[in-house]
Amino acid sequence: MKILVTGGTGYIGSHTVVELQQSGYEVIIVDNLSNSYKSVVDNIERISGIRPVFEKFDLTDQKKTLDFFQKYSNIKGVIHFAAFKAVGESVQFPLKYYHNNLQSLVNLLNGMEQSKVANIVFSSSCTVYGQPDELPVTEQAPIKKAWSPYGHTKQISEVIIENTSKVNSTKAILLRYFNPIGAHESSLIGELPLGVPNNLVPFITQTAIGIRKELSVFGNDYNTHDGTAIRDYIHVVDLAKAHVIAIDRMINTENKKKIEIFNLGTGNGFSVLDVINSFEKVSGQKLNYNIVDRRPGDVEKVWADTRFANEVLGWKAEKTLDNMMLSAWNWELALKNK
Ligand code: UFG
Repeated sequence: MKILVTGGTGYIGSHTVVELQQSGYEVIIVDNLSNSYKSVVDNIERISGIRPVFEKFDLTDQKKTLDFFQKYSNIKGVIHFAAFKAVGESVQFPLKYYHNNLQSLVNLLNGMEQSKVANIVFSSSCTVYGQPDELPVTEQAPIKKAWSPYGHTKQISEVIIENTSKVNSTKAILLRYFNPIGAHESSLIGELPLGVPNNLVPFITQTAIGIRKELSVFGNDYNTHDGTAIRDYIHVVDLAKAHVIAIDRMINTENKKKIEIFNLGTGNGFSVLDVINSFEKVSGQKLNYNIVDRRPGDVEKVWADTRFANEVLGWKAEKTLDNMMLSAWNWELALKNK
């Protein structure tokens, strides 16, 4: 059974391709390599023993997208990761984000309609909730005004998919990720941030290995146990496994509604200092860090109510924070030796 994975050479995409292959799916990757490398395809093959089909093109190109769907028949489902994801960059270049993230989705949905592909799993984000009024946050929490154009593209994308499903056969599972971190246990795939990382964990590992001088901890005056902001960090392989379950669910027509929405987190909130402590413990490295002002746009605390995903998908994140930090560190060490 063929599954199209857009953004399949990216961070979450590559881990999902491996899990799909290991569950018996045939994977076709589409990626424009704007934020990833062709060599990821080789590393996927090293892990699974199966080389996924790889097509390099940009999904904002309508003709190429429609031609792709002509070329490959019998695609059973699509998992759509391909998107820009840097929050700060999106504030600087909003049109770049709206164009890329929304045009590609529209083209994809058109291609799916043309080829009668009904099932799509969409990468959404807990950013759609902003700072929720109640924690843990459930899927019913109100969608707050987006803090960034990036977050806004996720909100609009959810609505585009919902509205499309009202008029054609589209069925979708929208997965709202909390904070994915860590890497595959093989250390053959992981997160490859270009330039200076925006996210906490790659910044930690790059600081420990000497690429960065010091980590800035953004704020220690939040209303949390140690004053630093709290997030729900989830291992990328746990996250990837949920995608396989979601696509299985739609292919087996087990979904109860045309659109289903699930939070993907662990349900546990950890502060920035908790993450640093875990890193120091598992790596044996002392991290050079300094407390600085809050980062504009950051929410204070957010973690998931995962009961819906646990009960309905029969899925639960298994990896601990220490597991996540060790795999992130092993990945950084593997990158150094490349
Ligand atoms: N942080 C630091 N120093 C850094 C980087 C991050 O202290 O150098 C802190 C942040 O202030 C925040 C926490 O670490 O408190 C996590 O920050 P990340 O940048 O790793 O993650 P965010 O929670 O800001 O963003 C992530 C994803 C987004 C998504 C968002 C939803 O990167 O794509 O979650 O909340 F939209």
